[in-house]
Amino acid sequence: PRDLFGPGRRNSRGVELGHRASLEALLAEIAGAGAPGSAAPLVDGRALGGERRPVLNPADGRTPVGEVAEASPESADAAIAAARAGFPAWSAIPADRRAAALERAGDLLEARRGRFLHLLQAEAGKTLDDALSELREAVDFCRYYAAQGRELMGEPETMPGPTGEANRLALRGRGVFVAISPWNFPLAIFLGQVAAALMAGNAVVAKPAEQTPLVAAEAVRLLHEAGVPASALHFVPGDGRVGARLVENPHAGGVVFTGSTEVARLINRTLAAKDGPIVPLIAETGGINAMIVDATALPEQVADDVATSAFRSAGQRCSALRLLLVQEDVADRMIEMIVGAARELKVGDPRDVSVAIGPVIDMEAKERLDAHVARMSREAKRVHLAGEAPRSGTYVAPHVFELDRPGALDQEVFGPILHVARYRAADLDRVLEGIEATGYGLTLGVHSRIDATIERVVRRLSVGNVYVNRNMIGAVVGVQPFGGHGLSGTGPKAGGPHYLLRFSTEQTVTINT
Ligand code: SER
Repeated sequence: PRDLFGPGRRNSRGVELGHRASLEALLAEIAGAGAPGSAAPLVDGRALGGERRPVLNPADGRTPVGEVAEASPESADAAIAAARAGFPAWSAIPADRRAAALERAGDLLEARRGRFLHLLQAEAGKTLDDALSELREAVDFCRYYAAQGRELMGEPETMPGPTGEANRLALRGRGVFVAISPWNFPLAIFLGQVAAALMAGNAVVAKPAEQTPLVAAEAVRLLHEAGVPASALHFVPGDGRVGARLVENPHAGGVVFTGSTEVARLINRTLAAKDGPIVPLIAETGGINAMIVDATALPEQVADDVATSAFRSAGQRCSALRLLLVQEDVADRMIEMIVGAARELKVGDPRDVSVAIGPVIDMEAKERLDAHVARMSREAKRVHLAGEAPRSGTYVAPHVFELDRPGALDQEVFGPILHVARYRAADLDRVLEGIEATGYGLTLGVHSRIDATIERVVRRLSVGNVYVNRNMIGAVVGVQPFGGHGLSGTGPKAGGPHYLLRFSTEQTVTINT
């Protein structure tokens, strides 16, 4: 049996932020981290020029925190060509050595935590708590894929040879992998994609989200320092046009994407329309994630778990709770307690450690969320909470809207806005049908003390991650493999034992001895 929790692997250690000395040490490291710096396309280790623009502080959408030179179409093409040239050498390096480079990267990330936390706060507006858990996830991805890679990608597996032939099966890289990542986990998802693709023996061209190129650029520099050759990992910051150019390239051998369902579809169509090889897409998108709370649930725990699931990270997690379904017999009390828990959450400057909800990612996101709040304020059956947030900047206050029917929420709302609907116990099957009918399948929460109800919900819904009697965010690498189906993605489980297989080809060799 595999022993990934043995001496070979541990999850990265946390910091107790309530412990004064630990907190002060961490804040001192962040304060000494220097300016966020700049990002530029990096092809074969060489920084290329590009159209320069400031990277803005998400909290006000105005103040520059650094600068990025965006990749031109020619730089994107050059990155793919360079990755193509770098692939044979990288894939020929034994898996053990590729794994060692990733493990060094994990160690370096931990050693430079102040710098990365600073970047996550400056560029992505993360609270310290969120930045820290993201850093830990990034470290975990490096170490977990290294451990998996040593096991899966090392020696070929010997197959039976009943006819006297020798058969072996090996996993190999696919070639050039294009990695396109989102702004909500600009370090963890960026590095997770890149680390998995590299570990599987691919050369990688990575495009970070346009809002968050600085932390990604720093991660690329760190990977190179850790021993990933410059010819195996190339970096092309820019907007969707850069991503499109990469995906269209005939030499892109695989694409890993996390972001919206709409863009995943676009990538899928682009890949399908190309001549030449059939190129796999690994996509992780969003969800209208629901939580079902029945009359046996513990109200205090529900309140706490709902507040965490819906409002932490300003609701900007693909796993976040969007639609709470409460059994009507207990709904008034549950909603009251949830609203009470949400009122405790301070919204504001993410560098203030007492703040629970920082800004959303940019002005565009704020305007979209404000428009949704305005619409819900008119259309919702009841407004249970319209919280408070600083007036200037890109802050969005937590809101709790009650809908007259669950189906009234028909789109993912990516912010600290919770929708609630009541259901009658006799209608649970219809509620489950409604969740299924959204077509999404990422996360689901259940709060119930009845085993039969839990089993019924789990069996009925083909959701990727189900959380019972706890919050529904913050999947831990190697513990809760994460990813969904249907409109939520192609089903890969990041941080799970099968993820690397998605980045690989398999080769069977039969030798007639
Ligand atoms: N992996 C993250 C979580 O579980 C993604 O949103 O919360």
